[in-house]
Amino acid sequence: MRQAADLAVEFLAGLAERPVGRPIHPDELRATLGGELPDDGEPPEKVLAHLATDADPGLVATAGPRYFGFVIGGSLPVTVATEWLAAAWDQNAGNYPASPAGSVVEEVAGAWLASLFGLPATASVGFVTGGTMANFTGLAAARHAVLRAVGHDVGFRACSTRRASRWWWARRPTPRSSSPCGCAGAAIVCAQAGNVNTGAFDPLREIAAATAKRDAWLHVDGAFGLWAAASSALRHHVDGIEGAQSWATDAHKWLNVPYDCGVVFVADAAAHRAAMTVTASYLVRGAGEAYTPYDHVPESSRRARGLSVYTALRSLGRNGVAELVDRCCAMARRMAERLDSAPGVTIPNDIVLNQMQVRFAAAGDDDAEADRRTAEVIAAVQRDGTCWAGGTTWRGRHAMRISVSNWSTTEEDIDLSADAILRCAASAGVQV
Ligand SMILES: Cc1ncc(COP(=O)(O)O)c(C=O)c1O
Repeated sequence: MRQAADLAVEFLAGLAERPVGRPIHPDELRATLGGELPDDGEPPEKVLAHLATDADPGLVATAGPRYFGFVIGGSLPVTVATEWLAAAWDQNAGNYPASPAGSVVEEVAGAWLASLFGLPATASVGFVTGGTMANFTGLAAARHAVLRAVGHDVGFRACSTRRASRWWWARRPTPRSSSPCGCAGAAIVCAQAGNVNTGAFDPLREIAAATAKRDAWLHVDGAFGLWAAASSALRHHVDGIEGAQSWATDAHKWLNVPYDCGVVFVADAAAHRAAMTVTASYLVRGAGEAYTPYDHVPESSRRARGLSVYTALRSLGRNGVAELVDRCCAMARRMAERLDSAPGVTIPNDIVLNQMQVRFAAAGDDDAEADRRTAEVIAAVQRDGTCWAGGTTWRGRHAMRISVSNWSTTEEDIDLSADAILRCAASAGVQV
């Protein structure tokens, strides 16, 4: 364990300096990591040393300060240390008797998050693997509630096949109310807080008013955008958010805890439990009102995901979270200003949060040529290794995507990265 700690500290100390993920062919990794399963085991120290050496060329510095792909976030050091402890404790945080501490820490961290985001204090909370499962869980609760309201019981575990849910939707529309999209029957509306290409927000107050009128369930996907609620400068983007019925977010993105950790909140705690709970005669519960994680997530056995959320929030405090979010947005604006000043570079979206797109064109390029040139610059940036940015298609046009969501990104990192991007653009014929 001390060897692993030394290896981890060494990795983290060099994280900002290593190339940020140059392409590597899987065969190169198979050559050192692969082979037949050995008949006899090897000493653990040797196995760890091998893993650290052989995995290294395939590690991407996603946790480093110049990784701008997808929406990744890094890991606050206190949260990495928390995960070491969590592995040592090896708690099964599915139910209270198996881990009273795991259960109460999730209860506390969940309540802190609800308060940070301005969600109802009575909302129930579940810690899942990420935004995808947070959306899945919120929508399962939604499905349960809207169909129960029209006389159907589709508890997630009682009727869990996709085909079954499609059948209910397709064959049992109910005329009792009409949805905002004009189709008859129970309705679930999904709004977005933070578009992955632009950072833009749906008008949540208006949507919540429209869904309330029609008895529809409003679910908000705020995988990273919900964190705007923590900042007084950005909170207006999520105005009206408390009018929704369920919310999904990620902790592994903007809170900067290690992968994987997403969070779901549901206003109707009974619907949440009814959609998720698991029962069996051997599954005993805690005394009194103990919080039972597996009432709120689609898993039974699970790791204690809430621990690093707890230590992140406790070490940052309300002000520290706001500062982290504001700082990333300021870094995104700095990047946009640096790039936008080059004649052949355009930023097609307003920088309302931490996300931006970048397009590159040479003099005389039409849209299709600019698409190709943009792809060429993205590939060159990825080969260069100073920073990492991916691509996207938005409104039919190709663009580089940049997301600034890492706690450790400095102005110097932004400047180094902007210089590298402009250098790659110049070599692709773009006037910079
Ligand atoms: C808006 C939004 N929703 C959902 C997701 C999926 O989240 P995860 O990858 O944590 O499952 C993402 C990921 O970037 C996202 O940006």
